[in-house]
Amino acid sequence: MQLYLLLTERCNLSCPSCIRGKKKKNVYLDAAAWMSVLKRNAAAFRDYQLLVTGGEPTLHPQMTEIIRASRPFFRSISINTNGVIGTWVNASDFSDIHVQVSLDGTPEMHNRMRGDGRQDVFSCVNQTIEKLGECHISYNISTTVNVQNYDNIFQMPGFIARYFNLRYWKISPELPFGCSSDEKILRPLPWNQLIDFLLDHARVRLKVRKLFDFALADRFLATHDLSEPSKTRNCGDVVNKVYVYPDLTVYPCTCLTDFPLGNLKTQSLMAIVHSARAEIFRNYTVKEDSVCAACKYLPICNGGCIGMSYHHFKELGRGDFRCPKLGKL
Ligand SMILES: C[S@@+](CC[C@H](N)C(=O)[O-])C[C@H]1O[C@@H](n2cnc3c(N)ncnc32)[C@H](O)[C@@H]1O
Ligand code: SF4
Ligand code: SF4
Repeated sequence: MQLYLLLTERCNLSCPSCIRGKKKKNVYLDAAAWMSVLKRNAAAFRDYQLLVTGGEPTLHPQMTEIIRASRPFFRSISINTNGVIGTWVNASDFSDIHVQVSLDGTPEMHNRMRGDGRQDVFSCVNQTIEKLGECHISYNISTTVNVQNYDNIFQMPGFIARYFNLRYWKISPELPFGCSSDEKILRPLPWNQLIDFLLDHARVRLKVRKLFDFALADRFLATHDLSEPSKTRNCGDVVNKVYVYPDLTVYPCTCLTDFPLGNLKTQSLMAIVHSARAEIFRNYTVKEDSVCAACKYLPICNGGCIGMSYHHFKELGRGDFRCPKLGKL
C-alpha cells in the first residue's frame, strides 16, 4: 500500500502537462504536525510505502528532516523528484531511500516537455542522476509519454542504458488531468506498440503496463477460473493508495481532489480509509446501465481508472474513457 505525501504543491518548473494543475497552493507541510501524525498512526503506517512528492518535494526546507523522522514508521521511503535540485543527495544519509527522477526524453525533448524548451533543465537532471549512481543510492527513471514525446521515446533505450546503477525504468502514459487534456494523451494501440518495442529493445529493467490489450485479457480469461468473486482493485479505490496533501487532507487520488476523505490533523488514517465517504471508492462498482456492466472483461478491469470516469463522464462508475469499447478516444 502506498501513501503519497505532497510536501508542497509549489514547483520550480511549470510543465505544460502537470497533473497537479496550474494553480499550485503556496503551502508547505508543517513538519511538527507531520511528526505528531507519525506517532498517532504508527501501527497503520507499517503497511505503507511512503512516497514523498509534490509539487517539487526538494523545495521543502525540511525535506531531509521529514524523511529521517518518517523512516522508522514506513515499510520503505521513496522521493519523487524532477531532479533539478540535487544538492540534498548524500550517500550516508540516503542509503536506504529510493529516489525516482523524471526524464521525459532525450535532452532537447526533455527541455521541451519540462518547460518552454529554452531552459536547460536536462543538464541539472542528468547531474542529479549521475550523482545518485555514484553514491549508490537506489534510483529509477520515470518517463511520462504523450503525443508530443511519443516518437522520441523510441530513441531512449540506448540513452537510458548509459546510466550507472539504474534500478529500473518506469514508463507511464500521460493522464488528461491538471494541465493536460484529452488531445494530448495516447490511444491504447500506439501505447501498447511502444511497450512491445521497449520490451524488445530496452537493456534495463522496465516497469510498464499495457492498456486495454484485449488479446492478452482473452488469454487470461481462458486460463483463469473467475467464477469465484475476485475483487479487482481500481486505481483510486483508496485500498492500495492514498494521497496526503500539504494541509494533511487525504484524497483517493490526485485526480479525485473533489473528494476529500478526511484530515490527518484530527483523524487517524484508518478512520479515514474506513469512513462512509471512502466506502464509495473501496467498494467501487460500475453503474448498471453502463457499457462496463455487460463487458466480459469486467472481472479483470472493474471499469478501470476511477478518475477517468469522473472527469470524462462527470460521474463515477461509467468506465475508463480510454477503453476502445467505450469509443470515446
Ligand atoms: C506530479 S510529479 C511530482 C514530482 C516531481 N515534481 C516530478 O515531476 O517528478 C510526479 C510524476 O507525475 C508525472 N506526471 C506529471 N503530469 C502527469 C500527467 N498529466 N499524467 C501522468 N503523469 C504525470 C511526472 O512526470 C512525475 O513523474
Ligand atoms: S510534473 Fe513535477 S516538475 Fe513538472 S510542474 Fe508538475 S510537479 Fe513540477
Ligand atoms: S473499461 Fe469497462 S468496457 Fe472497458 S474493458 Fe473495462 S469494464 Fe470493459
